Amino acid sequence: MSHWPRDCVCLYVFVLSTNIMFLNPMLWLPLAVLSCYLIASIVSAQQPNIIVAVIDDMGYNERSSRDPRYRTPTMDDLASQSVRLNYLYTQPSCTMSRAALLTGRMPHTMGIENVFDKFDNRYGRLMGKYDTEVLAQRAISIIKAHKKSGTTQPFFIYLAFKAIHTPISVREFVVLHCSFIHCSLHFNTSQQVPAYLSDRCSHISDPLIRDRCGTMAGVDDALKNITKTLEGQGYTKKPLMLMVMSDNGGSSPNGCEILICVNSASNWPLRGKKATPFEGGTRVPAFMYSFGLLPDSPRDYNGLIHITDIPLTLISMARNSNTPVVVPDVDGKDQWQAIKQNGPSQRDRMVYQMWDDEAGVRKGKYKLVYHTSGPCSGWYNPLPGVNTALPEDVPDCGGFMLFDLEQDPYEINDLSKDPDYADEMNDVMEYFNMEKARKYLFRYPL
Ligand SMILES: *[C@@H]1O[C@H](CO)[C@@H](O)[C@H](O)[C@H]1NC(C)=O
Ligand SMILES: *[C@@H]1O[C@H](CO)[C@@H](O)[C@H](O)[C@H]1NC(C)=O
Repeated sequence: MSHWPRDCVCLYVFVLSTNIMFLNPMLWLPLAVLSCYLIASIVSAQQPNIIVAVIDDMGYNERSSRDPRYRTPTMDDLASQSVRLNYLYTQPSCTMSRAALLTGRMPHTMGIENVFDKFDNRYGRLMGKYDTEVLAQRAISIIKAHKKSGTTQPFFIYLAFKAIHTPISVREFVVLHCSFIHCSLHFNTSQQVPAYLSDRCSHISDPLIRDRCGTMAGVDDALKNITKTLEGQGYTKKPLMLMVMSDNGGSSPNGCEILICVNSASNWPLRGKKATPFEGGTRVPAFMYSFGLLPDSPRDYNGLIHITDIPLTLISMARNSNTPVVVPDVDGKDQWQAIKQNGPSQRDRMVYQMWDDEAGVRKGKYKLVYHTSGPCSGWYNPLPGVNTALPEDVPDCGGFMLFDLEQDPYEINDLSKDPDYADEMNDVMEYFNMEKARKYLFRYPL
């Protein structure tokens, strides 16, 4: 691929997101270019219609296939007919993930970090009105209008749910309202999820988990309504890709944000939560439900996929070509053939997070985690009936930790002090330092 198409018309790209990343052209410009390229290339190829549905802060367990208390029959049904991406890693928080998804680039090389992100959480919460139905309805009307227009151009829909985020969206809480200028406390009762959704989860006694279950049930309804529309309009008989994923792990009890501790997500048995470099922060539920594109569905794909790989992978899928898509200055890899042929992943390493106080990278099966000082995340909210001695907090985790993810996917045994692993530690540290240097190069260009 030598140049970007000059005259591309971005048809049905709609971006519904709370993120302030769009205030920064550095971030959205590559998205516009990628979307245009995507559209331009699919027009001339096999023309699959594409929907990428991203759920906000959905934890690893928050679906009925993993936790029977949840009410997500549509997701489970779609996933059971899909290629499940069991090792899809995002970034540990919304803005970083969405920037990575839309640009194919690592947030730490674009100056997107925790301060920015924490601010975004405030912003997202302020805008956190329950709107799953509105978003679903918008997607449905785009699909219907597309059908009605009779166009041969495919559609590309990026459906960025604001659910499930935190139960603040379904309960009455004191909300910390921060503007650019100042912060204030107030109640907001206008963010209730409809009672019919809460009622579906009335069997759950913990109100925080009940609310998460209710909001997930809403997302499940949205997927049901959208897939019904796709079927009704004949789109499940043409090349179709419906990719569903969470943008990062769920927030958990110790995840208080300033004054409010309302999160009760479960990423069990993964360690950690949103905004941490542990697996629970970034290894998310994800699947590709498709028609005519992945003929040997359903099955699992267990290769390593990073969120930055998604744009190039979808472009590659849309082009239906066997030559890998490579874009200069993009960190993502084209994983389409790997997923399609159930072959080896195109990457053996990735960055989980590269903040000053929390960071993590992986090379091969070894993972290096850095935590400045003090307690760090453990294992939250095991499934009902699971007895565990694993702590919610680990009292002192200052410095580096090393895990062998093949032997120890739940990050229980820190190998960093074990002299037998000194070589592995040095090797992955070298990669860590290289990625850290990329971050500082952005901050302080030469
Ligand atoms: C509550 O949030 C909605 C948007 O979600 C906003 O329109 C409304 O003004 C807020 N109410 C208060 C009291 O801040
Ligand atoms: C799904 O469709 C039903 C029936 O039209 C509607 O009542 C419900 O609000 C929709 N839910 C979502 C989340 O779109």
